[in-house]
Amino acid sequence: MFSEDAPKKDVKTVRIASEIWNDGQFINWNDARVHVMSHVIHYGSSVFEGIRCYATKRGPAIYRLREHMRRLLNSAKIYRMDHSLTLDQLCEASVELVQRSGLDQCYLRPIIFRSLDEERPAFGVNPFPNPLSCYIGAWDWGKYLGDEAIEQGVDVCVSTWNRLTPNSMPAMAKAGANYMNSQLIKMEALTNGYSEGIALDDRGFVSEGSGENIFLIHDGKVITPPLSSSILPGITRDSVIHICRELQIPVVETGIQRAALYVADELFFTGTAAEVTPIRSVDRITIGAGKRGDITARIQQVYFEITKGERPAPGEWLTYVNDFKPSADASTNGHKAQASEPATTTAASEPTDPMSSYTALVTD
Ligand SMILES: Cc1ncc(COP(=O)(O)O)c(C=O)c1O
Repeated sequence: MFSEDAPKKDVKTVRIASEIWNDGQFINWNDARVHVMSHVIHYGSSVFEGIRCYATKRGPAIYRLREHMRRLLNSAKIYRMDHSLTLDQLCEASVELVQRSGLDQCYLRPIIFRSLDEERPAFGVNPFPNPLSCYIGAWDWGKYLGDEAIEQGVDVCVSTWNRLTPNSMPAMAKAGANYMNSQLIKMEALTNGYSEGIALDDRGFVSEGSGENIFLIHDGKVITPPLSSSILPGITRDSVIHICRELQIPVVETGIQRAALYVADELFFTGTAAEVTPIRSVDRITIGAGKRGDITARIQQVYFEITKGERPAPGEWLTYVNDFKPSADASTNGHKAQASEPATTTAASEPTDPMSSYTALVTD
């Protein structure tokens, strides 16, 4: 019944930063522990991010750091997490973590969650009595869907599990609890011998993968589901939309029927972890020529050139860790820091907000 090697299908964790940022200070990996009775463990009350830091000729560069941290703060706001973390503080903490880790490239994982006040413990669903904690960890993560996937593409299925409905669990918040749904999608796919599953929304339109947004190419047009299809507003998705505009490839955000996946010329996933990964079959139906298509290859090439710092990005998307100068006020030593704009390569101008394109999006 179970595919023998299904549980092993994850990338190797090679190197892990020995320190973790926690609420304004750096602590050792071994000290980054939570109590088993913490609210988050029982009720899934966390919001988090996944951010890549790429190796470039100018040293490690964090990709779209401010956009990720802005999404983290938006997720916290949706879940009424009342904290005093600031965008600048989180960005500076991330840069310092990479500097201190010595890693030339890594994946950053900021997380805010409801923990436990051991003096006045509270165990109910009501999250308000529980204190909030914020941590940022880092490790070197390879290609999420396997090394060959970037070139060869992956074999995927349409999941029997639907994506979350917007008035049950908001998919636009990157909340830990959403990933129970993602786990159902992923486990079903792996168990049946696929690399990944694509979930439909509650109306039967294509939504997204368990940890990726999806794009379809038809007659030279790039098509992707709108925010109203219960997708996470992906930052890689936003990057691909910008890249397509630069390459003068038309992009349409609209509802996609499941059957349209089967007859697409090309399909690909996007995500911080998955980057731009071609899809070569869905439900054992070959997509296009059954290998990475030409438009996917063009977009992928530009994406990788940008992330490696070899091509100018449409916005200031790379924060070069070695060139980073923290602002005078924005100390990482405490929650209460009132940060001003830091002197970073990204901070000079306000980042493009991946959410801004979504207002135009809810048009299907
Ligand atoms: C459910 C889901 N959709 C989409 C994405 C892609 O988002 P991003 O490109 O911001 O990583 C992710 C990854 O974070 C995800 O978990």
